[in-house]
This record gives sequence, structure tokens and C-alpha cells, in this order.
Amino acid sequence: MTFLLVLGREPKISLAELEAIFSSSKVKQLSSQLALVTAHSIPLDRLGGTIKAAQIIDEPIQDYLSNLPAGKITLGISDYSDHANPRKTWELALKYKNMLRRHGRNVRLVPNGKSPILTSAASHHNQLGEKTNHIEIVKYGKHTGISVGTQNITAYAKRDQARPARDAFVGMLPPKLAQILINLASEGAKSGTILDPFCGTGVILQESVLMGYSAYGTDISEKMIQYSQKNLDWITNRTPRLQKNSAPNLYLEEGDATNHSWKAATPSFIASEIYLGHPLSSPPADIKLKQLQQDAKELLTAFLKNIAKQIPSGAQLALAIPAWKRPDGSYSGVNILDEIDKLGYNAIKYRYASYDDLLYYREDQIVARQIIVLRKK
Ligand SMILES: C[S@@+](CC[C@H](N)C(=O)[O-])C[C@H]1O[C@@H](n2cnc3c(N)ncnc32)[C@H](O)[C@@H]1O
Repeated sequence: MTFLLVLGREPKISLAELEAIFSSSKVKQLSSQLALVTAHSIPLDRLGGTIKAAQIIDEPIQDYLSNLPAGKITLGISDYSDHANPRKTWELALKYKNMLRRHGRNVRLVPNGKSPILTSAASHHNQLGEKTNHIEIVKYGKHTGISVGTQNITAYAKRDQARPARDAFVGMLPPKLAQILINLASEGAKSGTILDPFCGTGVILQESVLMGYSAYGTDISEKMIQYSQKNLDWITNRTPRLQKNSAPNLYLEEGDATNHSWKAATPSFIASEIYLGHPLSSPPADIKLKQLQQDAKELLTAFLKNIAKQIPSGAQLALAIPAWKRPDGSYSGVNILDEIDKLGYNAIKYRYASYDDLLYYREDQIVARQIIVLRKK
């Protein structure tokens, strides 16, 4: 089956995630915001970088709609075509509604307002693609698909904001980015243990257990281990499948990533956001930037050296490392790629995303996250 996927705010990072999960040959970029993927299904609740998925249909849309099972129909249209226009999209929706009415069907249209695209909130709220006869037609040029669902923004927000132990100073990774790092490291493997050696408040550990992996978190700070424990107890208490005997294992211990021995379990994959340094309110001056880059490089190098001795050949690491905003708006990161080879790793390359594309930030952020994916030689 072929699916039309709507990519997230950082489309290149989303593409890298899709390549990791489905392999490059199954992914084709269609536009800056869209991709086609050949797959049996799209696991939307575990793809941090994909907003919406629609299954491409071959039959004419009128035939598809005429053959829907009995009962009321809720219908919406999102047209991602380059010159799509809200009025025409609405007229098309009315045309389908009238056609269905002539067939005796009861139809409710989801208004698209001033945009040819339904917002994620509208799609999700109306359960388009998630319930029988709740249909969203997704168009791009000659491609037409039927939505199989939209990212559950409410669930992400709850997992992010309702966690009991939070630390503004450490800064928490958005759950979507945690999923992306896990996917880049594990490439869709169905099981295994995800290690986060800089686990902080435990966002990556939380997303790992929700995705069915065992999770192993270590951090130099005892307080952070307590926070992770508290947050993981919280997610376990509100997720029945995590309370079963067959639930994924969780290991937590204090440890300095530059010299720790991870003995509680064998890590299959490493997904982590390393220490990003102090939060900054304006771009650092040149001297300060050099110092920050050097500190981050020392920490990263020492960690990579230490863990290289403890993981098997082929083990993969997806790391978020810092990059700092310059006064001209560009970002300057940690110069690590030259050392990777000497440290015993290869950097993974993606077809649709270069190293520089894997930068995750918001316009107002001084410290951005550069994603690097490494494989132990
Ligand atoms: C950027 S935070 C990770 C945040 C985490 N992803 C989260 O969402 O909460 C980095 C963490 O690295 C820890 N850290 C700093 N230096 C470390 C070291 N040498 N070894 C292990 N952890 C370290 C800090 O205590 C902090 O919790």
C-alpha cells in the first residue's frame, strides 16, 4: 500500500525518521511538506515527525465514497496541492456531500475555514480517519488518499505537560523529538533496550516504554534519577499495559556517562540528549561560544570513548547535541564529525537529509539541538 504522509515542523528530520523506519527505498519526498511511503501500515502514534497519514486510493473518490458502510458520514478535505484554495476545497466538499445525499446518505462536512487544509486539531477532534465513516480526503496534485489518522496532539501535550517532576533548568525534550531519536537509533526494531545515559527527567525513557522497549536511564545527578523514577511511575500508573508482567523493564541508576559501566542490562540502542549547557538568552560572544563548543565536545568525546567499549559492533546511537545561535541567525555546533571515525563509529547518512538539515530548534531558541546518528564499527 502507498501512503501520503504530511511531515512535521522539521520536514527533513521527519524524512530521516521515515527512512530509518521504512528504509530509503520505500520513502519518496513529494514536496517540502509531503512524502509517499510504501508500507503495510503507518504507526502514527510512534512517529514523532509525521502529522498525518492517508492511504492512496486507486478507484475514483466518488466510487470510494459511494461504497462506504451504512450510517452517517463525517467528511473533510485537506488539499496540500501547490495552488490549492480554500473556496475550491469547500466547493469540492459540497459536491461530494450533494452526491452522497442523492444516494440517500446523511453527511456532515467539517469546515476548512480560511485554509484548504484542515488543522490537526480539527481532524483529530472529528476523529477523521480514526472511526468508521469519519473520512478525510487528502489531496496533493494527482494523488488522492483517505486519512488513516492524525497525530494525537492532545496525548503528546499531556505526556509533556502533566509529568509530575519537571526541571526548567534541565529543559525537557519534547516527546515527539524523543520518539524521533528512538526511531533513528532503533530503526523500527520491535524490541530491545534503549539506553539514555543523560536521562534527565526521563522523557526518552518514558517514550521508550510506551513504544514497547525496555529502558535504561543513567544520569550524573541523583536528583534527575529521582525525577525520572517519579515520572516513570506516573506514566506506568496511567497506562494499564505498562502494569502487566510482560511490560518492558526499566533500569535507573546514577552514573557519569564518561566513565560509567552499564551492567544492569545490555543496551541495544542508545537515544539521548546530552547535556546542552546553561540556557542562554542571547547568542554567545565568540570567546564564550568557543568555550561552550569545547566543553560539549569534551563531554561527547569522553562519553563516546567510554561507551564504545561496552556496545557491540553495529549498535546505533541517535544523539541530540547542542548548536548555538549566532548573531546572524545561523547556528554553530560541535565539530565532532572528524573525530567520529577515530572514536570507532560511522555517521549514518540519509538520502533526504544532510547533517546540517538535522537541526531541531524554534526561532526564539539560542541553543538548538543538532541530531547525529552513529553506528559502532
Ligand atoms: C539536556 S539534559 C537531558 C534532558 C532529558 N532529555 C529530559 O528530557 O529531561 C542533560 C542531562 O545530562 C546530565 N549530565 C550532565 N553531565 C553528565 C555526565 N557527565 N554524565 C551523565 N549525565 C550528565 C544532567 O544532569 C542532565 O540531567
